[in-house]
Amino acid sequence: MKEKLVIFDTTLRDGEQSPGASMNRDEKVRIAKALERLRVDVIEAGFPAASPGDFEAVQAIASSVEESGVCGLARALDSDIDRAGEALAAARRPRIHTFIATSPIHMRHKLRMEPGQVVERAVAAVTRARKYTDDVEFSPEDAGRSEEDFLCQIIEAVIAAGATTINIPDTVGYSLPHEFGALIGRLRARIPNADKAVFSVHCHNDLGLAVANSLSAVLNGARQVECTINGLGERAGNAALEEVVMAVRTRQDAFPCETTVNTREIVPCSKLVSSITGFPVQPNKAIVGVNAFAHESGIHQDGVLKSRETYEIMRAEDVGWSANRMVLGKHSGRNAFRTRMRELGIEFDSEEALNEVFARFKQLADKKHEIFDEDLQALITEQTFEAEAERVKLISLHVCADTGEIPRAKVVLKVDGEEQVGEAQGSGVVDATFKAIEARLETGATLLLYSVNNITTGTDSQGEVTVRLEKGGRIVNGQGADTDIVIASAKAYVNAVNKLLSPALRKHPQAADV
Ligand code: KIV
Ligand code: ZN
Repeated sequence: MKEKLVIFDTTLRDGEQSPGASMNRDEKVRIAKALERLRVDVIEAGFPAASPGDFEAVQAIASSVEESGVCGLARALDSDIDRAGEALAAARRPRIHTFIATSPIHMRHKLRMEPGQVVERAVAAVTRARKYTDDVEFSPEDAGRSEEDFLCQIIEAVIAAGATTINIPDTVGYSLPHEFGALIGRLRARIPNADKAVFSVHCHNDLGLAVANSLSAVLNGARQVECTINGLGERAGNAALEEVVMAVRTRQDAFPCETTVNTREIVPCSKLVSSITGFPVQPNKAIVGVNAFAHESGIHQDGVLKSRETYEIMRAEDVGWSANRMVLGKHSGRNAFRTRMRELGIEFDSEEALNEVFARFKQLADKKHEIFDEDLQALITEQTFEAEAERVKLISLHVCADTGEIPRAKVVLKVDGEEQVGEAQGSGVVDATFKAIEARLETGATLLLYSVNNITTGTDSQGEVTVRLEKGGRIVNGQGADTDIVIASAKAYVNAVNKLLSPALRKHPQAADV
């Protein structure tokens, strides 16, 4: 029997710290359920003390996730620990993750604390967290740039106080694989009570080394890796879950441990995270990029046709490509629809809710021949968006684009129940549409991102549009899907405006002063 490598997913916490990737409670619950289907061991659901919204999201995840552990992040402060403990009260397997910075630069400039005070604070935090749960994780933030003797001192003290997982973060993505692996090996060898805790790593990707550093740490005894779907995360992101898991699985000859992740759920989960956050996956991204298993060159194609192993080290279906592609169409009935939705982890609270989405499915099936799983996910994503805060509703859109003429758009909106019309010209129909909406709403927001992705293939595919708007320092993502990308664009813009109009301010965990 090989040792277990714990997969700790922080898509909903560190992943959400990517500028523009903020998610609301319902979106987080959907991702948490997908992570559970993926069978990750621990889901870091958020930072409950950051805002009431974060608290509620962690609480909702704690009560809806059954198999995976649910973790809340807390600074080494009584109030944060208590907030995390409260938010996790309903969790079947709660974990509190507390952290404090240990590098000279962070202690001096950010915390303005002496090393001795930092140790005291860390021990007090772990002791308090143990009142809520036996599963307590401690992170010396910026460990990659901390002094090793000090790391040994603080880690020994927190293990004695009851920490069961010690997470070593390379917070700024500065380490190199050989030195980070060696650090983990030395910490485990030098700290007298190291065998009482699982050693974990949390690597950032500033130098593109997050996965390499994590794997090097595993080879040196780390038995938990913190990672995110699609490598989402602060700045250049965190170690990508799919890469860590598939490296360990594909190279079992090299690793003394294995994960229990259900790898067939990797691609569906990646698509869900991409669609909710509006962060597209680059085509050549390992494992989850659309080209990850595509062979273009004739020599490669010929080789793969003769024997797949010539150019493939993994099987596409093992990571979920094309595994869940049962096709529905306009003749599919409610039962087939409900069954497929259930298989995708989507349950309806009532018959009415099912009927509403089923009616949308039928409308889509009239326009589009085959409905794939991605289309069904998009129906739900869109419905969640619309349900949340609908001060503005798109009623109709008319665009005109003749060759040699200036494109024009006329949009009819319902604003707080009252129908209003906006008209504008633009450099193209999408530009004209956005200007027509702005002509009426005058939000004054800045458009930071406009991206279109086709959900499936073919010209009848739905286009999924993400619009990122910024106003007064607040950044929101809006999304819309339709077989007509101009309508999808208008829906996405209106969705983003609705988010801007809703009061949902969140605080960045590491922007805090302690
Ligand atoms: O990068 C980091 O140091 C973190 C800690 C809170 C673990 O995200
Ligand atoms: Zn981090």
